[in-house]
Amino acid sequence: MRELPLRVVITGASSGIGEAVAERFRRAGDRVLLTGRRAAAPVTVRAGERYLPGDLGDESFVARLVGEAANEFGEIDALVLCHGLQSEGSLTGMSVAEASRVIDANLLSVFSVVRSAVPLMSRERGSIVCVASRLGMVGMPGQVLYSAAKGGLIMFARAAAVELAPEGVRVNVVAPGLTMTPLIRDGFARHDDPEAYAAERAATIPLGRLAEPAEIAEPIYFLASPASSYVTGVVLPIDGGYTAA
Ligand SMILES: NC(=O)c1ccc[n+]([C@@H]2O[C@H](COP(=O)([O-])OP(=O)(O)OC[C@H]3O[C@@H](n4cnc5c(N)ncnc54)[C@H](O)[C@@H]3O)[C@@H](O)[C@H]2O)c1
Repeated sequence: MRELPLRVVITGASSGIGEAVAERFRRAGDRVLLTGRRAAAPVTVRAGERYLPGDLGDESFVARLVGEAANEFGEIDALVLCHGLQSEGSLTGMSVAEASRVIDANLLSVFSVVRSAVPLMSRERGSIVCVASRLGMVGMPGQVLYSAAKGGLIMFARAAAVELAPEGVRVNVVAPGLTMTPLIRDGFARHDDPEAYAAERAATIPLGRLAEPAEIAEPIYFLASPASSYVTGVVLPIDGGYTAA
């Protein structure tokens, strides 16, 4: 364990990848402040930890979250933005209102949190990690707006890395592939034969399987921690080789 625990804020922490990220930091003995949209705290909130439920599309909630981080930690060492949502629909079939919801959830709310948190980021260890998607790098039918939002998020992170480098704050972004989280499990469950559908999707991935959330959390932990102190502005695919094929 490091001498000084990291002070970490994690969004989207009430399920899936965010929950696994929280668990990874805990294992290292770090201090976490969790937020998610779910009203009830996730089962994994431990004694002494805070879980703040709220909508990151709401600027006043973002201000409250950053205020809590200031009270709790003074400074933030790592900010990991795992929140997001997927919405399927053909380009011509998606309404402008739905498109706007997808962009807000996956891109604008990330900007809003980062913008508010930067003054609090440690100038020695400050590291921001955004969670985009393989679909921010390649297209897929029915995912045009999700791709646009995640592609925008990738460029947001790279540009922010350049702007914040003189202040000693690093920014990186990961692009996960299909990962077995409630989001994906629920989607598969809507198919007639979920197991056959899951096998079909797995066959499109060079490693031949979906990721477990912990396999996404580990590289995120590396990018968020001082182990990657000279890494900034990178986009790291964690997708079983999908975007390399
Ligand atoms: N699971 C996958 O296959 C996969 C693949 C690539 C990228 N991703 C991305 O990884 C991230 C985590 O996804 P997951 O699979 O763990 O899904 P998930 O649905 O389990 O977690 C997403 C979390 O974000 C929260 N959230 C969404 N909008 C919010 C808002 N406005 N305010 C506050 N919280 C909000 C949800 O409540 C949820 O807890 C997302 O950004 C997703 O786009 C997931």
